[in-house]
Amino acid sequence: MSVSLVTGAMLLAVLTPTSAPVTTTTATPPVQSVRETTTTPSTTTSAPGCDLNQANARKGDLVWGFKKSFRQYVGVGLAGATGNSITATNGATITALDEVVRDGVPNPAGIPTGAYRFTFDSADYTSPTRFTSRYRGTVAFSYPAHFFTLLLSDPWVTTANGTATLHADIELKATPGAPAQPANLPDVALARLTPPAATAVNGLLTWPDVPATLTSSEAFAGFYQAGAPLDPPTMTLAADCATTPTAPPTANPVIPTATTSTENLIPVARFRPTPDLASTGVDAEHGLWAGVVLLLAGLALVLAAYRPRRT
Ligand code: HEM
Repeated sequence: MSVSLVTGAMLLAVLTPTSAPVTTTTATPPVQSVRETTTTPSTTTSAPGCDLNQANARKGDLVWGFKKSFRQYVGVGLAGATGNSITATNGATITALDEVVRDGVPNPAGIPTGAYRFTFDSADYTSPTRFTSRYRGTVAFSYPAHFFTLLLSDPWVTTANGTATLHADIELKATPGAPAQPANLPDVALARLTPPAATAVNGLLTWPDVPATLTSSEAFAGFYQAGAPLDPPTMTLAADCATTPTAPPTANPVIPTATTSTENLIPVARFRPTPDLASTGVDAEHGLWAGVVLLLAGLALVLAAYRPRRT
């Protein structure tokens, strides 16, 4: 037998996959989201003797999902959506509250779809029925296949004379092909709120789950009409001596997906071998072909050397 034949056969034997695919029991941990993770449930405690007033109104937050169907539209996407994202920066975080769940799976496209928490910025407080409270943070909704990125920033709540409004900066960035023009609406009156009959308790004023309806259809390029129901915000405003509720848990770590297309039948790889697994240093596919070529070359040599015996 020629050397080529032997070498080729050996290479083939080494490189041909066995019936059991190589599996690994170790997994690369999912990429931790940039958000701080806390699992403490929301609790409220009291600080007796603390009264909320104009001078000390310096804490609080706003937890608002904006509109769950929009979080689903961007965060899950329609068939063929690729590259969608929802991110929170500048004081906003994405919480694990009210996430979009599909077939029992929260955040099915790997994009965090929970409600947002905006941190406190400043307040002008007169009474529980007359104040303005400002919050900080930006949430960016990006849907490249639909040509838009929508930024929702720095919401604030103001109330007087029995009415309440939620304002925010809205910027719609639209790329060529979009069915709407770009828009930049700083401090637009976005939602009408139904103010609750709440009073400050131990320096803490809470408006839980306030009913909200859209007041500006312009802010969403006419995709929603004025009066459309929005998610109910929960707002707190507190004196610096008050004990405020613990922040809601942030979204679970999200596994980044390069492709979120629902037409992609190859499942997203959630577990990969660790880099320190033993490696032969051989590129398996190329080695396999080299083995085949060597085997054929060896076979050719054997045939060439073979001379049928003449009788
Ligand atoms: C400036 C660009 C765009 C903006 C701002 C925008 C915004 C929106 C909004 C706010 C909704 C309602 C989501 C909801 O709450 O259910 C929506 C739904 C929808 N959009 Fe867009 N969109 C844009 C471009 C497009 C494009 C280019 C397409 C098609 C290629 C598209 C297809 C749809 C469809 C099919 C729905 C209905 C989704 C559903 O009911 O689940 N949009 N869009």
